[in-house]
Amino acid sequence: MKLSQSAALAALTATALAAPSPTTPQAPRQASAGCSSAVTLDASTNVWKKYTLHPNSYYRKEVEAAVAQISDPDLAAKAKKVADVGTFLWLDSIENIGKLEPAIQDVPCENILGLVIYDLPGRDCAAKASNGELKVGEIDRYKTEYIDKIVSILKAHPNTAFALVIEPDSLPNLVTNSNLDTCSSSASGYREGVAYALKNLNLPNVIMYLDAGHGGWLGWDANLQPGAQELAKAYKNAGSPKQLRGFSTNVAGWNSWDQSPGEFSQASDAKYNKCQNEKIYVSTFGSALQSAGMPNHAIVDTGRNGVTGLRKEWGDWCNVNGAGFGVRPTSNTGLELADAFVWVKPGGESDGTSDSSSPRYDSFCGKDDAFKPSPEAGTWNEAYFEMLLKNAVPSF
Ligand code: GLC
Repeated sequence: MKLSQSAALAALTATALAAPSPTTPQAPRQASAGCSSAVTLDASTNVWKKYTLHPNSYYRKEVEAAVAQISDPDLAAKAKKVADVGTFLWLDSIENIGKLEPAIQDVPCENILGLVIYDLPGRDCAAKASNGELKVGEIDRYKTEYIDKIVSILKAHPNTAFALVIEPDSLPNLVTNSNLDTCSSSASGYREGVAYALKNLNLPNVIMYLDAGHGGWLGWDANLQPGAQELAKAYKNAGSPKQLRGFSTNVAGWNSWDQSPGEFSQASDAKYNKCQNEKIYVSTFGSALQSAGMPNHAIVDTGRNGVTGLRKEWGDWCNVNGAGFGVRPTSNTGLELADAFVWVKPGGESDGTSDSSSPRYDSFCGKDDAFKPSPEAGTWNEAYFEMLLKNAVPSF
C-alpha cells in the first residue's frame, strides 16, 4: 500500500474532523500534528519518561480489520484494545516510506512515533524470510532513495518526536554469520549503510537505538566483545552522533525480560552464555558498549514475549507457536540502563512464510515449534494475532 498525503491536505482533514461542538470549550487548534514548536530530544536523558510510544494509525488499521473478523464479542473487545498499544512502524522498503507521512498526522505532542529503519542492501543475510529489495552493492540506492528520503520527511516535521530502531539483525549477523557468503558479501554495505543512517538521521527531534540482537545471540561470552566493537565502530564511523542513545534488543524476539533461571539455562552449552534473560543482556552488553566507547542505554521489545518455554532451541525465531503479547510499552523497567519496554514487531504480522515452495521460505518457519500456516514476512496472520491475544501476559 502506498499512501502519500500532503501536509496541507492532512491539516484540512484534521480541521474538518476536529470541528468542535458548540458547547465544548475550544483548545487552541494546531495547524498540524505534533507540538506547537520544535522538539529537541536530549539523548543524555531517558526520553521515554516524557514521551509515550504512539499507537500508530497503520497498526491500528490492521488491528481494526482483525477485530472485524472476530465473532466472539469478548475476544473482539479485547482485540480492540490492542489498537491503543504503542507500536513501531516498519519502513521496510522504499515504497513503504509512503506509510510515514500519514502516520505522522495524528501524533500528539506527548507521544513519540517509533520507526524501524530496515532496508540495507542484502538484508537478512543469514536467513531468507526477510530478504530485502536492495541487492548487495546497491548502497547508493540505500542512501539516496531510502535514507535521504526519510531524513527529509523527518526534517519536515520538526515538531514531532521520533524514536528509531536502526537495522535489526544487521550488525549482529556480521559478528556471528560472516562464515556465510551472503553475510560476508553484505558486510561492507551493512557497515557503510548503518554509519550513513546514523549520521544522517541524527536530527534534534530523533532518538536512535542501534540493534544488538538479543541475549541468545550476542550474549554468548565469545560474542560480547566483538559485538560491542562492531556497534561502536559504526557509531564512530558515523561521527559519534549526538542523538544515538544506545541499542535495541529482542526486536521481533521471544526472550523473557527477567525470568530466572533463564529459559535456556538448562541447555548443555548454557555455561558459555551468562545473558540468560534480556535484563542481564542489557546490563552485560551495556557495559561492553561503554568500554567500547558507545552510548549504552537500551529499549527492549516485549511485544511477543508474554509466554516462554515454547522454543525447542534458543535460535528459533519464526512465528513461535503458542506465543502471547507481552508487557505493554512503559518506561518503568526497573533497570537504569533500560529506557523502556516497547513493542517493535507489530504482533500479528508474520515473521516468514511456511510455504516451502516460496522463494523466501526459510526452514525455521517450517520447524515444529513454528505456527503454520503462516504468510510471507510482514503480512497479517489473523490466526496468529488471535493466539497472541488469547495468550497475552498480562491479559487484555
Ligand atoms: C519482517 C518483514 C518486514 C516487516 C517486519 C514487521 O521483518 O520482513 O517486511 O515489515 O517483519 O512485521
